[in-house]
Amino acid sequence: MKRAYLLLTTLAIIIAGCLPEESGPVSSARADQVFTAVVDEQGNISRPTDFRENWTHLGSWFVTSDGMSGGATMHDVYATPESVKGFKDNGQWPDGTVLVKTVSSLESRQLTTGHAQWTGTPVVWFVMVRDRQNRFPDNRAWGEGWGWALFEAKDPDKNLTTDWRGTGFNNCFGCHTPARNTEWVYIDGYPTVRDSARYPQPVASTGMPVHD
Ligand code: HEC
Repeated sequence: MKRAYLLLTTLAIIIAGCLPEESGPVSSARADQVFTAVVDEQGNISRPTDFRENWTHLGSWFVTSDGMSGGATMHDVYATPESVKGFKDNGQWPDGTVLVKTVSSLESRQLTTGHAQWTGTPVVWFVMVRDRQNRFPDNRAWGEGWGWALFEAKDPDKNLTTDWRGTGFNNCFGCHTPARNTEWVYIDGYPTVRDSARYPQPVASTGMPVHD
C-alpha cells in the first residue's frame, strides 16, 4: 500500500515536471503578480501607466463623431505581453490578462501621404482584468470573468467604476454584450491576435464584419 502510494506520488511529480510552464488558459504565478500590481485585495483596479512602452499594441479603432464621445476619437488597445503569448497558445485570454484602451483626441494635417489623422491626447482609459477564479464575487466592478475600470484625464488616478452595469461610460455590460461570445472582447479589431482566437461560435457572432 505504502509503496503504491510512493510510486504514485513519484509519478505525479515526474508528470508535473514535464508540463510546460503555461499549461492552459489558467496560469497562476503570473496572474498573481498581475493581481498584486494592478488590483488590490478588495478588487480595486488601478490604472497601468507603462503600457505604451512595455505592452503589446493589439489594434486601433477610429470612431466618427456621431458616437458617444461627442467628437471623432481614436481608440488604441494594449495587452500585457504574457497575455498575448497565452492567447496565441490557447486561443483565449489567460487569467491575469490586462487590456487597456485609450480614447484619444484626433490630430490631423495634410502630409505628404495625404490627409493624415492620428492619435492625440488621451481623454479616457478603459481597463479590463481577466479573472478566471471569481476572486471578487461581492465587488460589482467585476463580472463575467473580468474586472472593469474607467479613468478620465481630469483625475487619471481615480477609478470611476463601482458597478460594471452602471450608466453612461460605466455601462460596460450593455455595450460589451455584442462581444459576449468572444470573452466580451471585440476581438475582430485586433490583428495582433485575432487569427489565434478559439471560440465555440465563429468570431462573426459579435455582429461585426468578418475580416479576411
Ligand atoms: C458606448 C459603449 C461602450 C461602453 C459604455 C463601454 N465600452 Fe468598452 N468597448 C466598446 C466597443 C464598441 C469597443 C471596441 C470598439 C471601439 O473601441 O470603438 C470597446 C473596447 C473596449 C476595450 C478594449 C478590449 C475590447 O473589449 O475590445 C476595453 C479594455 C474596454 N472596452 C473596457 C470597457 C470598460 C471597462 C467599460 C466600462 C467602464 C467599457 N468598456 C464601457 C464599447 C463600450
